[in-house]
Amino acid sequence: MSPSGQRARQFRLHDLRPRRPDARAEVLAGLSRQTKAVPPKFFYDAAGSRLFDAITRLPEYYLTRVETGILRANRAALAKAVGADVCLIEYGSGSSVKSRLLLESCRPALYVPVDISLEHLLASARGIFEEFDWLSVCPACADYSRPFTLPAAAQGLPRMGFFPGSSIGNFEPARAASFLAGVAEVVGPRGRLIVGVDLKKDADVLDAAYNDAAGTTRAFNLNMLSHLNHALGANFQLDQFEHVAAYNEGDGRVEMHLKSVTAQTVRVDGADIAFRAGERIHTENSYKYAPEEFFALAAEAGFVPRERWQDARGYFMVALLENAGVEGRGRLDGSAAAETEAARAAADGG
Ligand code: AVJ
Repeated sequence: MSPSGQRARQFRLHDLRPRRPDARAEVLAGLSRQTKAVPPKFFYDAAGSRLFDAITRLPEYYLTRVETGILRANRAALAKAVGADVCLIEYGSGSSVKSRLLLESCRPALYVPVDISLEHLLASARGIFEEFDWLSVCPACADYSRPFTLPAAAQGLPRMGFFPGSSIGNFEPARAASFLAGVAEVVGPRGRLIVGVDLKKDADVLDAAYNDAAGTTRAFNLNMLSHLNHALGANFQLDQFEHVAAYNEGDGRVEMHLKSVTAQTVRVDGADIAFRAGERIHTENSYKYAPEEFFALAAEAGFVPRERWQDARGYFMVALLENAGVEGRGRLDGSAAAETEAARAAADGG
């Protein structure tokens, strides 16, 4: 305790040493398939992260602006719903203005940003720690797509996950459900999650958001090839590929592709990858949900909706879900959750 009677706040890295996936194997496997695909995580080298930042400021890309607006407009309701002294677990490194808004309005006892990149994680967590002089920060270096253990400082605190940005839209729906089940495991019984979800809407609005007039999304998509050139010694010629993005209404997702202008062969880490003229590399799916569709998915993971906030146009939803357990699977009173609960009680000393 400090002289003021307040417990000293802490900054401490919780390093779970995530296994770095083999980029070469992953990219080559994706490019060797009948329908070529490279996962969207390969967008984000330094240049790609800067381009994504620029995307969030585009007039057509409403997602970030609308979600931030929702968090700003509902500060008081959010604070009330979240409650005092929670452990706020952010899925992602928490570099955004959205993290700051939520920290300001909810004033959690502990903030745990989670990211696989130690460098990004430490830089943004340090920034937050310096900016919020009342906040304890324990960044967790982990692959957040799978369940992970929380730092000791989280023991005894109610847990609240935070997954903004409609990043959940990058998962296939079945994978989104299993991801949410993992979140349920991390936050525990009665643990909660605030999640940002981009909603189904007019195809024109969606098409424009991923085909901006300034060409930033095009540059973002093409930059993946430049990233692969640098990271894997590939020789993609960026002017031989075209940006393609469109809302696939049947599947409820915006798809992004890179389309080969001509028949060509590209060398990727020693392998020859042949393209037919017009052949595409599928680079991203961005799923859009109707609120009830999303809640049905969340229910598979044991989450029930407790609160939801939207903008006036109904473009975007921020939902607060609670882990109520999966009926019939015994998540709450079954083995895994019961063990977690028992371990937590023991750690709490009661
Ligand atoms: C970061 C996955 C939410 O899908 O809208 C932006 C990424 N792709 N423009 C999205 C993205 C093209 C973004 N997410």
